Amino acid sequence: MKKLIVVRTVADLRRAVAGHRAAGRTIGMIPTMGALHAGHVSLVKGALERGDVPVASIFVNPTQFGPNEDFAAYPRGEDQDFARLEEAGCRIAFAPSVEEMYPDAGAQPALLLTTVTVSGSLTAGLCGPFRPGHFQGVATVVCKLLLMAMPDRGYFGEKDYQQLQVLKRMARDLDLPVEIMGMPTLREPDGLAMSSRNRYLQPGERTVALALHRELAQAADRVRDGNASCSGVSAAATAALLAAGFARVDYFTVVDAATLAPLERVSGPARIAAAAHLGRTRLIDNVAV
Ligand code: PAJ
Repeated sequence: MKKLIVVRTVADLRRAVAGHRAAGRTIGMIPTMGALHAGHVSLVKGALERGDVPVASIFVNPTQFGPNEDFAAYPRGEDQDFARLEEAGCRIAFAPSVEEMYPDAGAQPALLLTTVTVSGSLTAGLCGPFRPGHFQGVATVVCKLLLMAMPDRGYFGEKDYQQLQVLKRMARDLDLPVEIMGMPTLREPDGLAMSSRNRYLQPGERTVALALHRELAQAADRVRDGNASCSGVSAAATAALLAAGFARVDYFTVVDAATLAPLERVSGPARIAAAAHLGRTRLIDNVAV
């Protein structure tokens, strides 16, 4: 097993990456917020399969959490994360402090004077209205991470489908010399999408959580059949989630797979995405149509 190098500063990250570059290797970056699970590991494996030296970042980014969200409670466990990364074949872990990432702002997003905003249909719907400032926080931190490591490719999960589309557009619009790779969602054997936030689920909630993927899969079948309108399918699925035990459904929406604009009838590639609250956990998931 090759050793994982842990770096804490941008200067050390650049030095470690330069060593691999000098040896003629390509770099694949995997940004994460830690609390790593098999879904994250699959991104490391994806980079290895593509022939890239995997460089993961672990940073719970304060600027992408709203004031009433779970920044403080977000699961953290560095040693276990480093062990998982090393086992997966990752070569560099970048685990900066908040001060290293935001020397002038610390954890106060308002003090960050330069940000990246992706506007239009990519952020107007789905999680956008429910998490004001979230995608700006994500786009800004990922832009910074990519500029710090300057990888050939960045690996991201379709689990966060809206985030993936936002980051693809950011890289395009800003001419970042990085290919944004979308990787399939890893699921538990029963269908639940793997997520760091699944750790919040109480035993009873874990069973209820299954309904999210089940309803998405059923909705995809109904939309494919073409008999029902997208809004009809979404309304039925929302009712089913509430009946199953979800406390609140933020959205359950059929969107164009590229623009994320809501659809009433599907004629090309589409995605069905949903976010719903179960106890103190907000779960998101999506499926292709
Ligand atoms: P985090 O939730 O830790 O996820 C890191 C990466 O792992 C993201 O690209 C996410 O889509 C991917 N991922 C999560 N669950 C997955 C699963 N079940 N299967 C496949 N991939 C999965 O997403 C973030 O962190 C942050 O917003 C970040 C991009 C790091 C910016 O702070």
